Amino acid sequence: MKGEKDYNLDVVINQREIEQRVIELGEIISQDYASSESPPVIVAVLRGSVYFVVDLTRQLSVPFHLDFMGISSYGGSSDPFGVVRITKDLEVNIYGRDVLLVENIVDTGLTLNYLLKNLYTRRPSSIRVCAFIDMKARRLIDVPIDYKGFELPDLFVVGYGLDYQECYRNLNEIASLKVKPKEKN
Ligand code: IMP
Ligand code: MG
Repeated sequence: MKGEKDYNLDVVINQREIEQRVIELGEIISQDYASSESPPVIVAVLRGSVYFVVDLTRQLSVPFHLDFMGISSYGGSSDPFGVVRITKDLEVNIYGRDVLLVENIVDTGLTLNYLLKNLYTRRPSSIRVCAFIDMKARRLIDVPIDYKGFELPDLFVVGYGLDYQECYRNLNEIASLKVKPKEKN
């Protein structure tokens, strides 16, 4: 039928579950950084992590600096080398600082691996990773995740910052997106 959607959205993590988990992560992270000598630098990866980092940082009871790093994959998210281009660099100097890198999803791990390597060259005092979704089953390279929201199986998901061709970032839940097979006429 004309105008009918050729894909299905199924909620896999609902809004309440997201809110609850973000509160828990905020408490754990606040405890872990409570004894830091200087405020950690929270580095959120543009653009997908914006929704998560805004909610997460509102749950923190410790001081922090917030900065952003913009990246774009050369060959799209399927680039087998995980080569990413930095489209916006940090403004804060992270030399000697504790860094908390915030990502919305770790899938193959190639993007995170690249980002960690890049950030370590700047000689921070520490880097921890907080990822909202861990899709372990799809991992191609081992990457450390210190704080994770949820583990999901091999699905393509959208919402809460995650997009499909720039759509659905603003969904308040995480939904799996399945393309419907084309009907024969
Ligand atoms: P990587 O495979 O871990 O390097 O992830 C690369 C990037 O692809 C992520 O930062 C997301 O922007 C995007 N991505 C990976 N899996 C999904 C998904 O299920 N939905 C939406 N975007 C995804
Ligand atoms: Mg994307």
